[in-house]
Amino acid sequence: MIKNKLESLLQLALEAQKHSHSPYSQFKVGAAVLTPTGEAFAYCNVESAAFPLGQCAEATAIGNMVSHGHKRISHVVIASPNNDFCFPCGGCRQKIAEFAPDETPVTMVSQNGETHETTIGELLPNAFRAHDLDK
Ligand code: THU
Repeated sequence: MIKNKLESLLQLALEAQKHSHSPYSQFKVGAAVLTPTGEAFAYCNVESAAFPLGQCAEATAIGNMVSHGHKRISHVVIASPNNDFCFPCGGCRQKIAEFAPDETPVTMVSQNGETHETTIGELLPNAFRAHDLDK
């Protein structure tokens, strides 16, 4: 991806993180997804006093994208609240795979600005996808 485009996606995820509602874990996560047509959608994790109802940043970012009429992801960025990388949880890997082919890059950014890039195919090999329902 063009360097400036990735930079702005990283910034979106880092900005979204500031709005994280995470009073229970204190673990503020931000995520941003880019569509193949260049639109970007971000969000943060949103926790609940009823703990299992909490939603990851990736899930809320994807919900934001879908509610704006988009069904394809071309890049995912996840901002961690510390100097480690926040790899997406298992459930979010599946949620990303719903809208992203195997080769889609997933970039993690930490608070010290370091990045680590992988793909959804590496994070979730042999993902169960819509076409599997047809077999
Ligand atoms: N969390 C995310 O938002 N994304 C991840 O990939 C991992 C975990 C959130 C969920 C919860 O609000 C907090 O981080 C601690 O697990």
